[in-house]
Amino acid sequence: MKKSRESTDKRTRPYDPSRRSFLKGVGIAGAGAAVADKLWVEAGTKENDEQPQNSRVLSGTVPLVLEINGQKRTVQVEPRTTLLNTLRNHLDPAVTGPKLVCDMGTCGACTVLLDGKPAYSCLVLAVDAVRKQITTVEGLGSLEKLNAVQGAFVDKDALMCGFCTPGFVTTISALLKKNSNPTLTEVREACKGNFCRCGTYPRVFEAALAAAKNATGNS
Ligand code: FES
Ligand code: FES
Repeated sequence: MKKSRESTDKRTRPYDPSRRSFLKGVGIAGAGAAVADKLWVEAGTKENDEQPQNSRVLSGTVPLVLEINGQKRTVQVEPRTTLLNTLRNHLDPAVTGPKLVCDMGTCGACTVLLDGKPAYSCLVLAVDAVRKQITTVEGLGSLEKLNAVQGAFVDKDALMCGFCTPGFVTTISALLKKNSNPTLTEVREACKGNFCRCGTYPRVFEAALAAAKNATGNS
């Protein structure tokens, strides 16, 4: 009796040809592993798409107020947006001193100061920089009044293509705030996270020592 009801159910159940029903119904043991994985991912994605909008996480943009070079700047970005991307691409006017080179925390071209400490802005989310003092190379001095390090880079001709320069200037400026009379070894140590593909290191270090001398009057 039972057997006959089951066969009736099978006959009367509406046929659902979807890939998800197929995978859930028959299992994936007999399919090649790679193909099965792909199909499960697609089925899962479809299920996510069917979820109500408010149950998804990290979608859309958030409003932020960032304190950049002493000014409060408002910006609307996705939570996953890096500080570097925010500075360069989501502000008007943009802050383009920090450069995008490696985008993975290996070159130092994107260095900014967060509460006075050098940080790779390509590795910091903009949302994590809220309530921190963000200083870029633009905030260290102005065209009319370069800071000691910026002036020394000009005097010592410490750049070639210039892509690494904002990062070096920012890092060295932070060093001199902490240590006004560093040795060459200390300068090199402070700059170990900054790379210059043009190989201008000797002049960069010379500029750092000259800036320290100029700022403090050491001879
Ligand atoms: S761009 Fe950030 S470390 Fe290279
Ligand atoms: S001056 Fe070109 S990378 Fe440093």
